Amino acid sequence: MPDIVIKDLIKVYKTGKAEVIALRGLDCTIKGGEVLAIMGPSGCGKTTLLNIIGGLDRPTAGSINIDGANLVNYSDADLVRHRREKVGIVFQFFNLVPTLTALENIELPMRLAGKNGDYMAKRTAELVKLVGMEARAAHRPDELSGGEQQRIGLAVALANDPPILLADEPTGELDTATGQQILHLFKQLRDEYKKTVVIVTHDQRIGQIADTIMTIVDGRITGSMSGAEFLAKGGNPTGSPPSPS
Ligand SMILES: Nc1ncnc2c1ncn2[C@@H]1O[C@H](COP(=O)(O)OP(=O)(O)OP(=O)(O)O)[C@@H](O)[C@H]1O
Ligand SMILES: [Mg+2]
Repeated sequence: MPDIVIKDLIKVYKTGKAEVIALRGLDCTIKGGEVLAIMGPSGCGKTTLLNIIGGLDRPTAGSINIDGANLVNYSDADLVRHRREKVGIVFQFFNLVPTLTALENIELPMRLAGKNGDYMAKRTAELVKLVGMEARAAHRPDELSGGEQQRIGLAVALANDPPILLADEPTGELDTATGQQILHLFKQLRDEYKKTVVIVTHDQRIGQIADTIMTIVDGRITGSMSGAEFLAKGGNPTGSPPSPS
């Protein structure tokens, strides 16, 4: 399982004449096969970083090495292949196609990768079982609960068996118990399927499953600790006492 090595990553968004510097020379290494959690205040660059690792966006400068290749040098076609084969992305708002059933949503990335019908049927059955959705797989997203939609979202992300799973606040819209189930699934994906999992989250329970917790402030990594250390600090990655409310 290769590491993801990120060096001096810079991302500047230009909208009209205004510039926003979302990443200001971010360095980090994500170890292959670990669960890495990324925490930090709103606007610090978490989604920007995830989108760049996922090949949805390109950095302005810096390097991001996976498997001996630098994503920055990828052509558009290389990036399409990266998105299809190397990464699966889980979003906060589930991102399922509303007109397709859960099963058809899971099949979609395999169709785009040119997989045949027999393969898709077998793989879809495996994934539906993995996420515990056998009973509801023929339903459309609007007939499913938030937690069920997120489990299908996870199955969609895993469809083409990518080594890297990226999740942007995957429990943000879920109640406590449902969020816990989703976090448990990420842990299982690391332990049983050897996936590298990167989760952006505000959910303090991440300390129970994450190998590493990194904090981003203003486009740079400002701290890194183990899940155990994070729990020992009461789920507060800065270690400073909680502000009075
Ligand atoms: N497409 C864009 N165009 C211009 N500015 C952007 C764009 N996307 C993000 N930004 C800006 O870049 C900065 C980082 O945004 P980003 O979405 O990465 O933050 P975040 O850490 O994910 O925040 P949140 O916790 O609120 O989701 C913010 O200042 C944001 O306004
Ligand atoms: Mg975000």
